[in-house]
Amino acid sequence: MNNYTLHRIRKEFLDFFEEKDHMIKESFSLVPKSDKSLLLIIAGMAPLKPYFLGKVKPPRDRMSTCQKCVRTDDIENVGKTDRHGTFFEMLGNFSFGDYFKEEAIEWSWEFMVQRLNISKDKLWVSVYVEDEEAYEIWNRKIGVSKDRIVKLGKEDNFWELEVGPCGPSSEIYIDRGEEYSCGDEKCKPGCECDRYVEVWNLVFSQYDKDINGNYNPLPNPNIDTGMGLERITAVLNNANNIFEIEPISLIINEIEKIANIKYGDNKETDVSIRVITDHIRAMTFLISDGVLPGNEGRGYVLRRLIRRASRHGKLLGLKNKFLYELADIVIDNWKEFYNELQDKKIQIKKIIKTEEEKFEETIDQGIEILNSYIDEMKSNDENTLKGKRAFKLYDTYGFPLDLTKEILEDEGFYVDEKGFNTEMEFQRNRARNARNSDDIEAWDSKDNLDLEYNFKTEFQGYNNLSYQSKVLAIIKDNKLIEKLNENEEGYLILNNTPFYGESGGQIGDTGILENEYFKGLVYDTKRKNGNFIHLVTVKSGSIKLEDEIKASVDKLRRNDIARNHSATHILHKSLKIILGEHVNQAGSLVTDERLRFDFTHYESLTEEQLTEIEQLVNKQIFDSLKVKVMEKSMEEAKDMGAIALFDEKYDNKVRVVKMGDYSMELCGGTHVDNISQIGMFKIISESGVASGVRRIEAITGRRVYDMFVKMEKQINDVTFILKTNKNGIVEKTKATIEEIKSLEKEIETLKSKIADSKIEDLLDEVYNLDGINIITKRIDGLDINGLRQLGDKLKERLDNVIIVLATKKDDKVNLIAMATKDSVKLGIHCGNIIREVAKVTGGGGGGRPNMAQAGGKDSSKIEEALSIVEDLVKEQINK
Ligand code: ALA
Repeated sequence: MNNYTLHRIRKEFLDFFEEKDHMIKESFSLVPKSDKSLLLIIAGMAPLKPYFLGKVKPPRDRMSTCQKCVRTDDIENVGKTDRHGTFFEMLGNFSFGDYFKEEAIEWSWEFMVQRLNISKDKLWVSVYVEDEEAYEIWNRKIGVSKDRIVKLGKEDNFWELEVGPCGPSSEIYIDRGEEYSCGDEKCKPGCECDRYVEVWNLVFSQYDKDINGNYNPLPNPNIDTGMGLERITAVLNNANNIFEIEPISLIINEIEKIANIKYGDNKETDVSIRVITDHIRAMTFLISDGVLPGNEGRGYVLRRLIRRASRHGKLLGLKNKFLYELADIVIDNWKEFYNELQDKKIQIKKIIKTEEEKFEETIDQGIEILNSYIDEMKSNDENTLKGKRAFKLYDTYGFPLDLTKEILEDEGFYVDEKGFNTEMEFQRNRARNARNSDDIEAWDSKDNLDLEYNFKTEFQGYNNLSYQSKVLAIIKDNKLIEKLNENEEGYLILNNTPFYGESGGQIGDTGILENEYFKGLVYDTKRKNGNFIHLVTVKSGSIKLEDEIKASVDKLRRNDIARNHSATHILHKSLKIILGEHVNQAGSLVTDERLRFDFTHYESLTEEQLTEIEQLVNKQIFDSLKVKVMEKSMEEAKDMGAIALFDEKYDNKVRVVKMGDYSMELCGGTHVDNISQIGMFKIISESGVASGVRRIEAITGRRVYDMFVKMEKQINDVTFILKTNKNGIVEKTKATIEEIKSLEKEIETLKSKIADSKIEDLLDEVYNLDGINIITKRIDGLDINGLRQLGDKLKERLDNVIIVLATKKDDKVNLIAMATKDSVKLGIHCGNIIREVAKVTGGGGGGRPNMAQAGGKDSSKIEEALSIVEDLVKEQINK
C-alpha cells in the first residue's frame, strides 16, 4: 500500500478485522448512552462497556469499529503544540470473552507488517512489567527480539477509565528514525521525545474497576484495542503531525485562504490555525450527534470549543463569523463515512453560526474588561485574577474559564479557579432554589414520607380503571398503623391497584376506595421504592389492614391525563420533523390540565414554526393513529428504533409505545388507545427554560373545548359592548380605536386653547416683588402635566418669574413651582418653596431650584398655602 490516506487506512483496518470474523459496526454517537460516568465518548470501548462487563449479550463476541472520540482534558494545549487534539477517530478490535492475548497480539502484528507494510525493524513493543505472558507471546510466538520489548509500569501500560472495564496493556511503537531522537543513549519507547511514536494500544481487559477503586475480576477476559487513525496515517506518510495529512490539511488551507496568511510562517498564527482546525472538527461532529451549546456538561464542552476557535479567528484578524462556513470542509470530507454530517448539515451550520453570533456580541467588550483587569493587576503587582472577576467574564460576557485562563497565561497571569468555582456554586444554588419554588411535582412537606417498607403492589391500571384490592399497609406520621378512621388522612398500600403512581413526568391518579363500610378519597398517588402509595382521606366509615376494597380511578381525569401524555409523544416526534433530529426531550410534565414539554433547541421558535408544529400534531390526531403497547427487552426496543429516554437498565423489560408509524418511545405512562381520542391539540405557550432548552405548553381534548367556550364568551361580550355582530367585530374595533385617537387629539388641542386663554388671565395677575414676578394660582381639573405646560408657557412670556400653581383633581392636591434661570440667580429655589407650601395642605415634596412638585391632602387649604409664597420669595431673595 503506498497511498496512505486517512480513509484508506480506516477501510483497511475494518476489512482486515472483518476477515478475522469480526462484526463491523458503525461508529457510535459521541454522546454516551446509558452511561452516566462519561460526558463524551473518549475511546472505542466506551460505548461497548455493557458487553465487556457481561451485562448485555453482544450481537457477536468479536467486533471492530472506527469510533469518533472527543477528549478535552488537554484542551488548553491544543494548538500550542502539534501533538494535542480534541477530536480523533479510534480504530479498535474487541473481543467479549472470546479470543484473548495471543490472537490480539498476532493480528495486530499481521496488520502492521503485512497490511500496512511497515518494516519489522521499525517496530517496537511494550508490555506491562508484570505481564510475562504477553512478553513471551511477543518474543517466542511473534519473534520480536528481547531488546525490542520494553517493560513499563502502570503509568504507561495499564489502561483504565474512572470506572469500568480495564486491564494491563501492550503497545506497539513505530521508530521514526534517529533524526527524531533526543540523543540520549537510553532513548527507547516510553521516552518523551519524538522518536518512538506509540500507535496501537492492546488492552487485556480483565477487571471492572468500581467507584471505590477496587479491581473486580471480570467473568471473561476481553480484548480492547485502540489505534488513533490520524496518528497512524501521519506516521505512515512521514508527516510530522496530524495537521499535515489530508483531509485535515484541507481545513488549514481554507483558513490560510480566508485569513490571508501562511501556515508555518509565524508561531503565533500557527497556534490559532491549529486551534481552529482541531476545534472545527470536534464541534461539527458533536453537533451532528445532537449536542447543543449550553452552560452544562456536553453543551459546555461544545460552547468552549466554538468560543475558543472563534477567539482564535479574531487573533488571525477574521472580522466576521467564519466557523459555520469552515464546517463545510469537515462535512464534505468526512460525510462519506459519517452520514449524519450530511443529514444535519443545515443545523450544524446554523447552530455554529448562532453561537458565533452570540459570542460576537460580547467578546470585544469582554476582552476590553479583561484587559482593564490585567492593567490593574500589573499596577498592583498582582499575578492572579480574582475568581469573582473570572466569573463575571463567564456569566456576563460568555468567556469560558479556560479562555480567560489562556488569555491571561499569554501575559503571565493566573486565575483564582477556586474562587471562580465558588461563584459558580452560588449561582447554581440560586438557580436550584428558584426552580424548586416552582416545582409543582414536589411532594408537599406534609407528604414527606420516609418510606423504607417494601410491599409489592401490582399495577393493574394499564387495562383497568377499577380493581378489587386488599389493604397491605396503612401509614400515618411515618408509622405503620392498623386502622384509619373517619376524617383521618393517611397513606394506603394495596396488593393490586389501578391507580397510576406519579412517575416519568405523569402525575398520579385520583379516585375512590370503597367497600360496604368505608369510603375514602384518593387525592394523589405516588410511587416510592416501587410501592404505590395512595394519599387517602377517609370520608365515611374506617379502613383496616387486610380489608377488601374496590379501588376506582377518576376516569375522566385519567382520560385527560392520557390525552396529554399521548399528545406529548406526537409533539416530540413533530418537533423532530419540523425543527430537526437534534430535538430531544429534556423534561416533561403531564397533568390532567395540560402538558409541558422541555426539549433541546438552540433558539426560540417562530410563529410559523409553532403553527406548523400544531398543525402537524393535529393532522396525526385527525388521522386517528392506533396506539400499540409492547413489552420488549431493551435491545429489541433499540433495534426497533424506539426513542429511549431513560435507558439505564439493560436487562429489564421495557414498554414500547407506538403510535401508527409516526412515533415510537419507551414509556411507562398511560395512553389513549387511538390518538383521535386526544380530540384536539393547542399550543398555549413557548418559552426558554435554560440555555439551549425550550418549553412548549399545550392543552388537549376537553381543555381545548373549554378554551373555545371561554373565548367565544369573551367575543360575545366584546360584540355586545361594541354594539356590533361577530362579523363586524374587527372593523368595529378598528373604527373605535381610530375614533378614540382623533378624540384624544381634539382634547389636546382644546386643552392647549384653554391653557392659552388662562395665560392671559394669569399674566394680568402677576405681582412684582423687588424685581421678581410672582404668579400663584389654583386651577382645578388639570393634572400635573397640564400645570407644567402652563408653567412653561408663562416662563416664555415673562422674565424673572416664579410660578406656583395648584390643582385639585380626584380629591388630591397637586402643586408645582417653576422659575426662570434669572430668578434662580436672584436666589429663588423652587424645591424649598414647594416644600413649605405643600406642608400647609398636609403634604410634602421638593425638587430643584428651577422646578419642583409636590402633593397635598387638604384642598380647602390650597388658597392659604399659595398665600405664603410671597413671604417665602421675600426670604429667599433677601438672604
Ligand atoms: N481503550 C484503549 C485506549 O483508549 C484501547 O487506548
